[in-house]
Amino acid sequence: MKLFSANIEDLRTLYVTNLQKALDMEQKITKALPTMIEKSTDPELANAFRTHLEETRGHVAKLEAILRRSTGDASTQTCKVINGLTTEAEDSIKDAADPAIRDITLIAAGQQVEHHEIAVYGTLRTWAGILGETDDVNILNSILDEEENADQILTDISDHVNLQAAA
Ligand SMILES: [Fe+2]
Ligand SMILES: [Fe+2]
Repeated sequence: MKLFSANIEDLRTLYVTNLQKALDMEQKITKALPTMIEKSTDPELANAFRTHLEETRGHVAKLEAILRRSTGDASTQTCKVINGLTTEAEDSIKDAADPAIRDITLIAAGQQVEHHEIAVYGTLRTWAGILGETDDVNILNSILDEEENADQILTDISDHVNLQAAA
């Protein structure tokens, strides 16, 4: 992608706006994960959410650091997508009375969030690269790795949990 200098300024604004939305998203995920841990019946699933809660707290800290460095503060802008995803998740978990069904519902909800995060960080990393923010690229890549890993772990767990739900 070839950009002129005016485009670069617009891209920088867009980049910061999306970092602020990502921070709001991660803060909301740290609030949602304790409920997901609590609602999980499968111990491996609860553990996966617990590990990812720790990682998510790290994502909050990393985004705050990037934002402070580029704007001087760590303010947020509302991420409407995470609001929608958490509302959907709460509704389907409420409807799932059977523990195994609830577990696969939690996995589905978790993976929707991870896939959204993977899209968000893939984009932010590309934009950071265009803007020449090499430090940010490395930080965003490290977050992206953890999101992809969390998604893969949920896929692995779903192998046995899905079978339990079908039995
Ligand atoms: Fe995250
Ligand atoms: Fe995540």
